[in-house]
Amino acid sequence: MKLVNPKVTRRRFIKGVIASGAAATSSSLWYAANGQSRPAGAVERLIRLNVNGQVRNVDVAPQETLASTLRYKLGLTGTKLGCNRGECGACTVLVDDIPTYACSVLTHSMKNGRIETVEGLESPNGDLHPVQQAFVESLSPQCGYCTPGQIMSAVGLLRANPNPTREEARQGLAGNICRCGSYDSYLDGVMRAVQIG
Ligand code: FES
Ligand code: FES
Repeated sequence: MKLVNPKVTRRRFIKGVIASGAAATSSSLWYAANGQSRPAGAVERLIRLNVNGQVRNVDVAPQETLASTLRYKLGLTGTKLGCNRGECGACTVLVDDIPTYACSVLTHSMKNGRIETVEGLESPNGDLHPVQQAFVESLSPQCGYCTPGQIMSAVGLLRANPNPTREEARQGLAGNICRCGSYDSYLDGVMRAVQIG
């Protein structure tokens, strides 16, 4: 008697194992990163997100935050997690051009939004975004952990107000905490970005 289904080739079998393993890993990573065990009945649903101008299909749990999805499902680890409770701004991304704490919005609510992360700012030819370039030239970061969030807030600010005063820039970045205290250097960077255009 032949026990092996001839349609299940070795290649198909291995591809299946890899695919199921990858899915289990990304899902497990999310729960581990959030200090949770998978709740009974927490069914992930496939949704479509617009991230950095690309359509991304991803399985998302009902209680999953955008920061977790970006980092642990889509590999966009430029979005940092600091407090994970809407206090520090490390996770700031743009949603329809508005700086948004990605740790404090559910991914399922983002289905119609245009999401931008720090990975999406670089131009196709590799040039840095003017804000990134200005932050480099102004030596704005120290440890750099808050930098992606500061960048995204600055980009959002300059889209809404391309020529801010220093005080307006201060207010624009007020939601981003810097443990290194590099606030003035970030403001220098924003004002330099205004000149770079
Ligand atoms: S990690 Fe989102 S506000 Fe701190
Ligand atoms: S540069 Fe270190 S937290 Fe801001």
